[in-house]
Amino acid sequence: MTVRLEDLPLRDDLRGLTPYGAPQAPLPVALNVNENSHPVPEEVADDIIVSISQALRGINRYPDREFTELREGFADYLGHGLSREQIWAANGSNEVLQHLLQAFAGPGRTAFGFAPTYSMYPLLTRGTGAQYVTGTRGVDYTIDAQDAAAQVADARPDVVFLCAPNNPTGTPLRTDVVEAVYDATDGIVIVDEAYQEFAPREERSALTLLPGRERLVVSRTMSKAFAFAGARVGYLAADPAVIDALRLVRLPYHLSALTQAAATAALRHAPTMLQMVDDIVGQRDRISATLSALGYTPYESWTNFVLFDGVDDPAATWQGLYDRGTLIRDVGIPHSLRVTAGTEDESTAFLEALASL
Ligand SMILES: Cc1ncc(COP(=O)(O)O)c(C=O)c1O
Repeated sequence: MTVRLEDLPLRDDLRGLTPYGAPQAPLPVALNVNENSHPVPEEVADDIIVSISQALRGINRYPDREFTELREGFADYLGHGLSREQIWAANGSNEVLQHLLQAFAGPGRTAFGFAPTYSMYPLLTRGTGAQYVTGTRGVDYTIDAQDAAAQVADARPDVVFLCAPNNPTGTPLRTDVVEAVYDATDGIVIVDEAYQEFAPREERSALTLLPGRERLVVSRTMSKAFAFAGARVGYLAADPAVIDALRLVRLPYHLSALTQAAATAALRHAPTMLQMVDDIVGQRDRISATLSALGYTPYESWTNFVLFDGVDDPAATWQGLYDRGTLIRDVGIPHSLRVTAGTEDESTAFLEALASL
């Protein structure tokens, strides 16, 4: 007899939930999870391999629990006068967010996000036993500072997620929204800047707001701009007291010596690693322009992907592209699909496949 999930003594609050499940199909053109399509540059890869092999020689010992060198690397990369006491890192920003929720959400508490936003926020929240509360956005998925503050003041959450710029819509979120939301709550405000490197250079990051705001957290990832998704490295900047809170919930030695070595080496080459960003931004803007010419309605994007409206039957279009070897994402928004900006060839393959449907 096969055992079903329902037969197990599963937590009541996990019953009926669906796990994260973006398809991992082996198609030639994979543009569905906002990865960076460009491999790590050869010279950087060589240096990373040297660092990993050195770390391997000491792999009989537990790694530096405080990942000191890596935190210094992130502080240097982020700038804004940050020091390593204000930095935390984990296996992907998903784990960074999980640590935050374990420390500041949990049973009897609530986390709040403006829908549609990153699909892992509710899952991670519920995983800690907390409730997830959904706020609303304005026209074209934008968030207005006053309206956001009023919604948050009303909901009184323990944790607020602000995805800046937002996944899956690409929408910019400016620092006035962060300031207004921060002032409207006593809870932790997480600004998820997973895609910040793809935003216009002159735009301010929420990092500029950290001084004097001890409940503000800015999270980042190496998975997107740094082309390091497979290494699983995310990080955040916040007040040192927030970092102390995260030490209470992390597993001892959660960042392996190999991960620390790889990420530290990659950060030494940050300018080279980030060279692809301009190229990706160029492809993103080309995709948006071509989608418009094809009669679709792309939303403004400050990320490495484009959400576009005007799709009569998203499931059929998704399948048609799939059959032509191109994987994009149906994020469940009516008449819309989301595509990651890939290399020039991948973006061309997607646009030609779409045009041929
Ligand atoms: C907004 C946002 N935050 C966080 C993540 C998680 O990234 P990772 O765990 O790879 O750092 C993603 C991944 O797509 C994302 O879109």
